[in-house]
Amino acid sequence: MSSDPVQLSSSVRLERRGDVALLVVDNPPVNALSHHVRSGLAEGLAQAAASDATAIVLICAGRTFIAGADISEFGSGMGGASLLDVQDAMENNAKPVIAAIHGTALGGGLEVALCAHYRVALRSAKLGLPEVNLGLLPGGGGTQRLPRVVGVEKALRMITGGAPISADEALGDGLVDEVVDGSVAELEAAAVAFAERLVAEGRPLVRISDRDDKVQGIDASVFAAARATAATKQRGFDAPAAIIDCIEATTTMAIADGLKYEQRRFLELMNGPQSAAQRYAFFAERAANKIPGLPADTAPIDIRSVGILGAGTMGGGIAMNFANAGIPVVIVERDDASLQKGLGVVRKNYERSASRGSIAAADVETRMSLIRGSLDKQDFADCDLVIEAVFENMDVKQSVFRELDAICKPGAVLATNTSALDINVIASVTSRPESVIGLHFFSPANVMKLLEVVRGDATSPTIISTSMAVAKRIGKVAVLVGVCHGFVGNRMLAKRGAEADRMVFEGATPAQVDRVLKDFGFPMGPFAMMDLAGLDIGWSAEKSNPDNLRDALNESGRKGQKNGRGYYVYDPETRAATPDPEVEQLVRDIAARKGIEQREVTDQEVLERLLYPMVNEGARILEEGIAIRGSDIDVVWTNGYGFPVYRGGPMYWADQVGLAEIAAKIEAYGARLGGSHWELSPLLARLAADAGALHRHGA
Ligand code: 3HC
Ligand code: NAI
Repeated sequence: MSSDPVQLSSSVRLERRGDVALLVVDNPPVNALSHHVRSGLAEGLAQAAASDATAIVLICAGRTFIAGADISEFGSGMGGASLLDVQDAMENNAKPVIAAIHGTALGGGLEVALCAHYRVALRSAKLGLPEVNLGLLPGGGGTQRLPRVVGVEKALRMITGGAPISADEALGDGLVDEVVDGSVAELEAAAVAFAERLVAEGRPLVRISDRDDKVQGIDASVFAAARATAATKQRGFDAPAAIIDCIEATTTMAIADGLKYEQRRFLELMNGPQSAAQRYAFFAERAANKIPGLPADTAPIDIRSVGILGAGTMGGGIAMNFANAGIPVVIVERDDASLQKGLGVVRKNYERSASRGSIAAADVETRMSLIRGSLDKQDFADCDLVIEAVFENMDVKQSVFRELDAICKPGAVLATNTSALDINVIASVTSRPESVIGLHFFSPANVMKLLEVVRGDATSPTIISTSMAVAKRIGKVAVLVGVCHGFVGNRMLAKRGAEADRMVFEGATPAQVDRVLKDFGFPMGPFAMMDLAGLDIGWSAEKSNPDNLRDALNESGRKGQKNGRGYYVYDPETRAATPDPEVEQLVRDIAARKGIEQREVTDQEVLERLLYPMVNEGARILEEGIAIRGSDIDVVWTNGYGFPVYRGGPMYWADQVGLAEIAAKIEAYGARLGGSHWELSPLLARLAADAGALHRHGA
């Protein structure tokens, strides 16, 4: 029997497949649970229950199953049926409800599926509760139902970590009941057949909330261990601890009480500052992909092969990104020893990942086979994209770009990984400056998410859109910026570094400066960072200045962690850092020579003097049009420099502190300390006076 589809709301319709009712959600792009989806589902479940259908299949149109609550509704009140109404109508339905899952069943999407009596999934589907990435916990029963299916320990990992699992893994855990191969149409057919079988066999309606076998007899040490891990690995974030509390509640409370408890903790997080900042960061990353002014018909070039020049620290890591995405790479070096060394590092990195279990053992060879070494730049002739990662020296870069210009095919993207040099000057030696762009990867390039895409004056729209698209393909978060010294990230970092040095001469210790930034939420402070990178990078005895602390440390043979002595001394076994009286004496000597009087510097002053010049520089970057929008600067800092995402980024954070307060402090510090980085940006002054916001600037 079949009848015409009934449109229940703008995004949900009810259809029939024989005796089975088919409830279809069609809310592009990701079928988020917007109010019209919730209302449509509640209505559809009621109508199907009242009809003569024997079972109900819930399926989604488009590229994915429900990918979660509609994040854009958070914080602005939610109308229509509640998620709870929908879930009640499913779980307590008199007819079997089967969720048919393709794409991603995430957050509220998986929580809806957990209220179905059975789940059928395509093998390519992924299932997870990623709310932690938004500073939230699953607020639709996920913390109560998931442990009842997959067990407490697995649920702890999945919900505090946020990463989805595959359909096959879900099948092994009992989270889905059947996995099928093929298209969405085949999924639909399989789910309907599954429903018909259920009915024919008279199988029971399984309500996960009735189960408690997996949440009984759990040792409290499981939760203590999870709390200890979260306290170090997710330091500063509120959500993980709240998630653990909720999962623990499954072992002590009846489900109805557990659900109420979860709801209370969810609302606390949703109304708190961290989740607001993380939701902002989610949309900021997506906004960064949108480039105003690019002609609508700009089609990116399909990148099928990549060339990389230089197999050093950056070249090898950059190559790994493409191999990981299945794109073949040829990596060219100037001599065989450097090439073998570079390829050896890449192999070692893959082997380490395999030994940790983050890639399969077989992936080591698969990925290495995609990276071919060569000593001949002619091998770039057919590459769609070539990235130069040789020494940071303008003459070297220009000579290399002359060669690339002669070798590479027309239309290829010619990219440089320079961290600060002028892209326009590099492009000027080629016959095709429109093809030249900066692709500024961050170290370690195979790990760091950020990619600053630096457009030159002549860079064409096609080259820009190709760069943004390829960044997404290799899993990077790309931000388009303009040319200036240090681009967005390093330019702002330089201001922070200058002030850190200055405060140490005034009496703050490196350990104090680092602690203040760590307490703020950065993974480490500037001095620990320099020790990690190596103090000798870029240092030369000829140009060394004994009144510069870093130079003075180099002069006394301190290279940082690599030789156990830098701003700190390092325990050879544990690598634990301890402040060194010798360094403190060196600081006092230099301060005395410079005539700087040492005093106590408060933690508050340290924080303000580190971060306010960065905010000021960010405003200048916006004034000059180097960044398109304030939120792009935040994306740079949260993805490339360890700025705590639960504070949104430097622009968003500054807006929370108050721009008037920051502007006043910048003027006061400027009057006392001098220095161009304390000259108040006119944009910042204006926004402060008009109650404007940096993070919304340019949006
Ligand atoms: N709500 C609202 N909009 C969403 C959304 C959501 N949950 N998820 C994605 N979008 C929007 C994006 O903003 C983007 O909009 P744009 O085109 O205007 O920029 C568009 O959908 C496409 O998103 P992506 O560019 O991210 O598309 P991808 O194909 O790369 O990725 C995805 C798809 C994996 C589903 C990814 O979008 C994603 O991870 N989304 C968030 C999933 C999530 O966190 N779900 C949990 C939400 S919180 C929740 O459910 C609370 C519950 O427990 C009560
Ligand atoms: P590196 O010194 O580790 O590697 C450079 C490699 O290029 C060496 O292996 C060298 O043999 C090779 N090389 C030099 N000239 C060559 C030529 N003409 N032909 C072929 N190979 C040649 O340097 P690193 O750190 O990888 O830096 C490379 C570029 O990346 C620089 O522009 C640097 O500023 C930039 N960068 C570096 C970052 C870092 O943290 N190391 C971060 C971001 C950008």
